[in-house]
Amino acid sequence: MTVSEQGLIVPGSGKFDLPEYLKAGPGNHPPLDSPGYKSTGLRHPKQPLVLLPQRLTEVTGPLLGDELITMGDADLTTQHGGEPQGQRIIVSGQVRDSGGRPVPDTLVEIWQTNAAGRYRHSREHHPAPLDPNFDGIGRAITDSAGRYRFVTIQPGAYPWGNHYNAWRPAHIHFSLFGRAFTQRLVTQMYFPGDPLLPLDPIFNSVPDEKARQRMIAGFDMDLTQPEWALGYTWDIVLRGRAASVFE
Ligand SMILES: [Fe+2]
Repeated sequence: MTVSEQGLIVPGSGKFDLPEYLKAGPGNHPPLDSPGYKSTGLRHPKQPLVLLPQRLTEVTGPLLGDELITMGDADLTTQHGGEPQGQRIIVSGQVRDSGGRPVPDTLVEIWQTNAAGRYRHSREHHPAPLDPNFDGIGRAITDSAGRYRFVTIQPGAYPWGNHYNAWRPAHIHFSLFGRAFTQRLVTQMYFPGDPLLPLDPIFNSVPDEKARQRMIAGFDMDLTQPEWALGYTWDIVLRGRAASVFE
């Protein structure tokens, strides 16, 4: 018998039993209205959410093939003619399902500011310099052990106008597709020791302390490469009580 995130496949029987949808633990997700995070009141559904049944269609939908992803897509420091400004970092981790099993072949996408805290985006208003050698966009496919690895630049903090003197702590946005489109997870990774974390309404909108801590990467000396880059490890859990916080 093969056990997977999708269900139990009994060889020779043709049977495929789908498990119940696994909810995240209590306090793992911010409330729809988070008063400190003002814009939440303007953009969430006003009606109760409807949990779709988990059927074969929902868990076996098409996935992006790895033929569209190149190794260079995961190195944000080599996408232009020169090297970007800032502290070079390596961000790596493992994607797991609710049972702790690695999730291979899943698309991991990231986006972030440059070292000065500026996004390359038409609606970006922060008067910090753009970096001609940095777009802040990367993607990778997890390997057979569910691992991903990016080379990038330490992102900067940026003002966001939520309240007086509001600055977002440095972070990297992540999107994962899991084993099917319906398992998509969008989240943010933070850096340890950031003095802005206790002040950030988005980070602190997650009620559970342990869930908040799961959003913070760990500095990793083994991943750090001498004379070249600092290493940060950040594992992601798609579902279940230990699931990563999602937006
Ligand atoms: Fe951001």
